[in-house]
Amino acid sequence: MSPPLLFVDDDRAFSSLGAAALQREGYAVTLARSLHEARAALARLTPALVVLDRRLPDGDGLTFLSELKSHVPGAGVVMVTAHGDIASAVDAVRAGAADYVAKPVELADLVLRVRRALDTGRLKDRLAAAEAELSGRRRLIPPASAAMQRVLAALERIAASPRSAVLLLGETGAGKEMLARHLHALSFQNEDTPFVHVNCAALPEQTVESELFGHEKGAFTDARTTRRGLVEVAHGGTLFLDEVGELPLGLQAKLLTFLDSGRFRRLGGTTEHSSSARIVAATNRDLPALMARGEFREDLWFRLGVFRIDIPPLRERHEDILPLAEGILADLRRELGRKDAMLGARARARLATYPFPGNVRELRNIIERALVMESGPELELDVLQGGKPMPSLAAAVPDMDPESFVLAGPPRALEDVERLYTRWVLERLGGRRMEAAKVLGLSYPTFLKRLGEGS
Ligand SMILES: Nc1ncnc2c1ncn2[C@@H]1O[C@H](COP(=O)(O)OP(=O)(O)OP(=O)(O)O)[C@@H](O)[C@H]1O
Ligand SMILES: [Mg+2]
Repeated sequence: MSPPLLFVDDDRAFSSLGAAALQREGYAVTLARSLHEARAALARLTPALVVLDRRLPDGDGLTFLSELKSHVPGAGVVMVTAHGDIASAVDAVRAGAADYVAKPVELADLVLRVRRALDTGRLKDRLAAAEAELSGRRRLIPPASAAMQRVLAALERIAASPRSAVLLLGETGAGKEMLARHLHALSFQNEDTPFVHVNCAALPEQTVESELFGHEKGAFTDARTTRRGLVEVAHGGTLFLDEVGELPLGLQAKLLTFLDSGRFRRLGGTTEHSSSARIVAATNRDLPALMARGEFREDLWFRLGVFRIDIPPLRERHEDILPLAEGILADLRRELGRKDAMLGARARARLATYPFPGNVRELRNIIERALVMESGPELELDVLQGGKPMPSLAAAVPDMDPESFVLAGPPRALEDVERLYTRWVLERLGGRRMEAAKVLGLSYPTFLKRLGEGS
C-alpha cells in the first residue's frame, strides 16, 4: 500500500526532513544524494514518484529527467528548483515533470504536491488501461443480419440528434453497452467527449443520487465537500444509465425532470444546474412488467422510449453468429498469441445450432475458453457439446404437451397460427409473459409482436 518514492537531493537537511515528512504520510522513501546514487537506486526499485533536485553534484536534474522517463515511464516527477527560477520550472514541466516546488520548500506543500502527482498518475493509468481495453479489443464487428443492420442504421440516424434520449433493450450479453459506445462514437467525433457509464443497480439509492446529480457540502454526513454529479461530468457527451430498470422511483422522477429540461439540482442544493449530456439508458428487465407493478414510471418509459432500440438475441439472428465468432477469434488470437487457431467444421456446425442464452458475451467466452483449453490449430469448441441446450417447450413446462395444441377449420395464414400458438402457450403459463417469451425462444419485443401487441 505504500508507494515507493525516490528522493534525489544533495541538500542533507532538506532531504532528510522531506523524506521524514513523506514517510509520515505512509510512503516508502529511498534517498539518493547524486545522479550516480539515483541510477543505482533505479536498478533496484521502480518508484511511483521521484522528487528530483535540479542542481546535483554530478549533473543537472533536468537532463536526468529524460533518462528517468525512458527508464520508468510510469513514474511521476516533482522537480525541486532554486528560488525564483521560474524558467527552469517551466522547462521541467515541459520535459514531463508532473509538478515542481521552489526552494525553500514548505514541507506541507511538498507532501501535497507529491500526493497530487501520484493521484494524477493513477488516474492516467486507469484511463489508459480502460481506453486500451475498449479501442483495441472491443471493436464492433459488423453484423450480417438484416435485424442488426436495421439497428445500426437507426443508431446512425439518432446520432444526428445528440441530445435525444435513447433506450436500449435486450437480453444480457446482447450488446447494449457495445451499441451505446458505438452511438457515442457516431455522435461525437472528438475523442475527448465524455462517455460516462453508471450502473444503477450497483449502488444504494442515496449514493446513486449523489453519483448522478452530485451533492453540496453537508448534504449528508460524509459530504465534506461539494461534488459534481456524473450528469455534469457527461456534459457535452453521453451518460450511459445501465440497468435503468433498477433506478429507485424517487430518482426516476428526478431523471424525468432532467430529461425534460436538461436541468437538475445537486443533493442538498437549491441552485439549478444544467447539462447537455445525452442519456442512453439500457436494461434487460421487462419494463412493462415493472410498470404494471408500479416499479417503473410510465411517463419515464414513454420519455425514454422516443428512440427505443430492441436488440434481438443472438439466436434470432443466426447470420451474425459466424461473422461474430470469426471476428472475436481474430481479436483474441492476437491477444492470446495463438496465431494459427481457426474454427473447424465441427465447431461451425456446433455454433450454428447452439441457442446462446448468454448471447454475444457467451460466444466470446466460449471462444476465449477454447483458445486456452484446446491446443490444436483447429478449434472444436467442445464446450458446446456439454453446453446446456435451450429449455425445450416440454422440458420447461412438463405438463404442457405441444401436441395438445389443436387447430380446426380451413387452412390459415402462418402468421395467424403463430399468434394463436403464442397465445395458447401464454395461457398455459398462466399469463406469465416473460416466461412464455423464453419458452418460445423469442425476445420480449418479438414475443409481443407475435402476440399481435407489438409496435
Ligand atoms: N457486434 C459486436 N461485435 C463485437 N463484440 C460484441 C458485439 N456485440 C457484443 N459484443 C461483445 O459481447 C459482450 C457483451 O456485450 P455488452 O456488454 O454490450 O452486452 P450487454 O447487453 O450490455 O449485457 P448486460 O445486459 O449483461 O450488461 C462484450 O464482450 C462485447 O464486446
Ligand atoms: Mg451491459
